[in-house]
Amino acid sequence: MEEALLRLKSEAEADLASLNSTQGIEPFRVKYLGRKSEFSSLMRSLGEVSPEDRPRLGQLANAVKQEIEKKFILKKEQIEEGADDAGGIPETDLSLPGRYVPFGKLHPVTQIMEEICSIFEGMGFGVAEGPDVETDFYNFEALNIPPHHPARDMHDTFYVNDSILLRTHTSPMQARIMENQEPPLRMIAPGKVYRCDSDITHTPMFHQVEGFLVDKKVSFSDLRGVLGVFIARMFDEETAIRARPSFFPFTEPSAEIDIACVMCRGKGCRVCKHTGWLEILGAGMIDPEVFKMVGYDPEEYSGFAFGLGVERIAMLKYGINDIRLYYENDLRFLSQF
Ligand code: PHE
Repeated sequence: MEEALLRLKSEAEADLASLNSTQGIEPFRVKYLGRKSEFSSLMRSLGEVSPEDRPRLGQLANAVKQEIEKKFILKKEQIEEGADDAGGIPETDLSLPGRYVPFGKLHPVTQIMEEICSIFEGMGFGVAEGPDVETDFYNFEALNIPPHHPARDMHDTFYVNDSILLRTHTSPMQARIMENQEPPLRMIAPGKVYRCDSDITHTPMFHQVEGFLVDKKVSFSDLRGVLGVFIARMFDEETAIRARPSFFPFTEPSAEIDIACVMCRGKGCRVCKHTGWLEILGAGMIDPEVFKMVGYDPEEYSGFAFGLGVERIAMLKYGINDIRLYYENDLRFLSQF
């Protein structure tokens, strides 16, 4: 009995010396101080020793127990203190890298659209948006395109029914705004437009920004001036522009505006089909017939209008040759902008 107690004491001291982590504390307590420990069963067997030896062995057993307990509590405190400072796992590890939070971005077409709008806002233009689902009246008739007019063929229209359609351009906003407001007017109208057309330079839905200005004595050179400022800000000061005669039923005279090719600077390349020029928008002086439709006096007022394709400008600005890339929503493509 005496031997067993002394052996247990030295084993416990050796175990305690090598105890150095919080995880080791509880197993030690169970092994040496728990109710099922060898020590506990020794204590129980005290009853079986002879009455002469019992007091001496009882004292020894108590002394051993107190000794182990004392040393155990001391060690436990040391370990727990150390864990708080540096030894163990602190609650907050400030050296860990932060968690990655992926940020979304605006679509490149939206970015360009916003850039276009802010350039015109800088020149005093107001911004208005209109419906994608439009009436035949605003999309065509109010713009001097009566039923059966051959110009309707150019538009590849998606019809909802005989009189409702998906707008084929943002020009209906000219009529909508003019019929509700009096000149002078300076407005742009950005938005989605729809045409039944699809290849590497056409998608069935695309974006336009319409612009127009109405006042007394507005001339073609005002149009040229405003577009010149726009091109210089959108591309750069050196980008040359030219106007080619064209036809739109709602402008007279009408023009298509080209800029010097942004890829080859006008020398001629594949992108500009070796002409040195890229078409970027349609424009002209608002036709007197349109003014009559909205109740303006064409003798008193004149104005210009233009409509530009947002995807087209985004393709030129970023050097992208397939418009469909904008709508495949491949994040490897979109995240570059
Ligand atoms: N609406 C025309 C188009 O979509 C562009 C345009 C707008 C032309 C305004 C002249 C004036 O092609």
